[in-house]
Amino acid sequence: MTSDAPRPDRARGMRTDYCGDLRSFDIGRTVSLCGWVARRREHGEHLAFVDLRDRTGLLQCVVDGAADLRNEYVLRITGVVRARPAGTMNAELATGDVELGECLVEVLNAAEPPMFPLVDRDGGTVDEMLRLKHRYLDLRRERMQRNLRVRARVNAAIRQSMDAQGFTEVETPMLMPSTPEGAREFVVPSRLSPGSFYALPQSPQLFKQLLMVAGTDRYYQIARCMRDEDLRADRQFEFTQLDAEMSFVTQDDVLECISESVLAAAAAITGSRPTDTIARMTWTQAMEEYGSDKPDVRFDMKLVELTPIFANTEAKVFQSTCVKGLRLPGGADLTRNRIDQLTDMAKQWGAKGLAWFKVREAGEVEGPVAKFMAADELANVLSAMSAAPGDLLFFQSGERDLARSVLGALRLELGRPPINEGGLSFLWIVEFPMFHGTSDAGRPIPAHHPFTHPHVDDVDKLETDPFGVRAQAYDLTLNGWELGSGSIRIHKPELQQRIFSVLGISPEEAQKRFGFFLNPFKFGAPPHGGFAYGIDRLVALLAGEENIREVIAFPKTQSGLDPMTGSPTPIVERHLTELGLRTLPPKG
Ligand code: AMO
Ligand code: AMP
Repeated sequence: MTSDAPRPDRARGMRTDYCGDLRSFDIGRTVSLCGWVARRREHGEHLAFVDLRDRTGLLQCVVDGAADLRNEYVLRITGVVRARPAGTMNAELATGDVELGECLVEVLNAAEPPMFPLVDRDGGTVDEMLRLKHRYLDLRRERMQRNLRVRARVNAAIRQSMDAQGFTEVETPMLMPSTPEGAREFVVPSRLSPGSFYALPQSPQLFKQLLMVAGTDRYYQIARCMRDEDLRADRQFEFTQLDAEMSFVTQDDVLECISESVLAAAAAITGSRPTDTIARMTWTQAMEEYGSDKPDVRFDMKLVELTPIFANTEAKVFQSTCVKGLRLPGGADLTRNRIDQLTDMAKQWGAKGLAWFKVREAGEVEGPVAKFMAADELANVLSAMSAAPGDLLFFQSGERDLARSVLGALRLELGRPPINEGGLSFLWIVEFPMFHGTSDAGRPIPAHHPFTHPHVDDVDKLETDPFGVRAQAYDLTLNGWELGSGSIRIHKPELQQRIFSVLGISPEEAQKRFGFFLNPFKFGAPPHGGFAYGIDRLVALLAGEENIREVIAFPKTQSGLDPMTGSPTPIVERHLTELGLRTLPPKG
């Protein structure tokens, strides 16, 4: 899923051309190329094939007297482009029809042998610690150079799209007050106010809302954000958001502007828009049918509601508030071993067990729970799940949230295609609940953040049925990843105070914690809403990468270290003293 932009004449400086650009129509031209020795193969006594690499690709150069040239030496080669002899063309290489002859080689710099081969073929098998320790070599690989370019092109397309839609790019502070909300923050000690700290932004949320109070109307920023959370394939401490906020808009307006910018970014990489409009699904439908608020809709396998079928069941396993089923078409040939493995996984996800049976010819079923079902229950289940001979059916019975999430995870385990297959399936998830879960103090926890506007039809229920209140909050998903989140915000102080009361935050406490943010709202805050999506995640999916580290030039390892620079490192005593800090000995 990549494209290379049309190539204007871009040779500069010490060269006339880039290696990867040369084609048959260049035959006869004398060119100068600069790059690194990717490979050297002897060809007779003196002659050698030297593959010269730059950021655009490789060109085979036929060099006389190449004995001193080692891998990764930096060369400038001047020679004549000529056709490769018949039968020696390489269809796998963009420049495979031509080679460079009559070569004059200048060694611009020598190189020690690299710690790992810099060819893409082997890139996947090289230990990641080694790659990150020598990231400057790792990045020299074509795949990594391509990823950097994809990222740059995505950023450029986003800027162009936001600008065309009338958004103003505004930079917000990196040093901000610490607020007790959201993920754990990184803090920065203040030298001028010893004992006090700034926090690095988890997102520009508070500032962008204040920009709306300030009349900016449409704000955006390609914003660096920092969160001190456990790292995963789609999470780094430092990441980048396309962050946006708009005044005098409805949810539809926000969705349209953001759709426009991600589709433009996708088109900049794939060459065409994956869709004209991004489909929408309610949060409830996503949870019921996919068991996830970020459903991967590249494949079907929906969860099936079976609760009513077991309303009067004798079977203990199915006597519960919720029974859901998942059908694996053609799954009857799964081995007992594999099913046991899936059962263990389900237990790790919190399930008590995993009920299943296989469907044989003429509706006959085989498996440990089949015998618990009454004949009519069985017939109804087979019909509800559209079961056919050769299928494997799985069941979860229990609390609704758990039954959904276990089968949702099982669905991904059994059906999810590789990241770079099945195209780009963007999907909006709308009507998130306002609250999800209960705090230790027995209060509802905001599902997005406490500044989110409730659905206008549900405002009356805030005090009486908080968990029945929908929010004007929405997520954008792509191929089963959460790409971004946003909401329409509360702009009236009275409604904000009602939400705080539901959360158990008194007016005095709200003033103490968020005063700098809430007081400006008394000075004419317009109705507003916004969104932020993760650019690292978008770029990874567009580049066909499973881990956002592959699209970040200098990422941290899973344990938050940078093996190249060695950070984090202790700082010298004098520096600590200046900051008014003393460190404790490491734990354990
Ligand atoms: P939220 O916290 O959902 O919303 O973040 C929005 C998007 O940012 C990306 N993201 C991350 N990417 C990589 N590593 C991380 N550690 C990480 N954390 C978040 C994700 C996520 O969907 N201010 C609100 C948005 C708003 O309401 O306007 C916010 O930040 O892609
Ligand atoms: P048990 O009655 O515990 O012997 O379980 C009978 C079968 O039902 C086993 O295959 C269990 O894995 C499965 N099972 C147990 N609890 C649940 C549950 N809550 N949902 C689905 N299957 C279950």
